[in-house]
Amino acid sequence: MSGTNPYIEKQDFKLPESDYQITFLPMQKKVEVLSENISTESDGLPGSILNAALDAGIDMDHSCGGVCACSTCHIIVRQGLESCNEATDDEEDMLDLAPGLEPQSRLGCQCVPNGTQAVIVEIPEWNRNLVSEEH
Ligand code: FES
Repeated sequence: MSGTNPYIEKQDFKLPESDYQITFLPMQKKVEVLSENISTESDGLPGSILNAALDAGIDMDHSCGGVCACSTCHIIVRQGLESCNEATDDEEDMLDLAPGLEPQSRLGCQCVPNGTQAVIVEIPEWNRNLVSEEH
């Protein structure tokens, strides 16, 4: 079950209204996100990249439990960033602690695509050995 962090600014986001696809790099794992089937049980904001990864069996690191209190869920959005919610100042502050920061960097637990386009995210190299797929 996902938790909340009472010390951060509330995220403004919309759940996707249409189905879309997330591709996780470098493993090229494609995940179909069904708008009627957004999980509220996995860690991270409902509909977040982390949430979708966990639901698809991709064990992305998320040390704080997906409440914007670490930077271990750092991802780089290679395509579709325009369809994602804006990062809050709290997310930006946490991202500043992440190695390998890029202009398209986000926290996977706070980044919620709205489903208007396919999204491609890259798991940074320093974090890849922590990512594993179940099955
Ligand atoms: S899991 Fe800690 S900030 Fe996303």
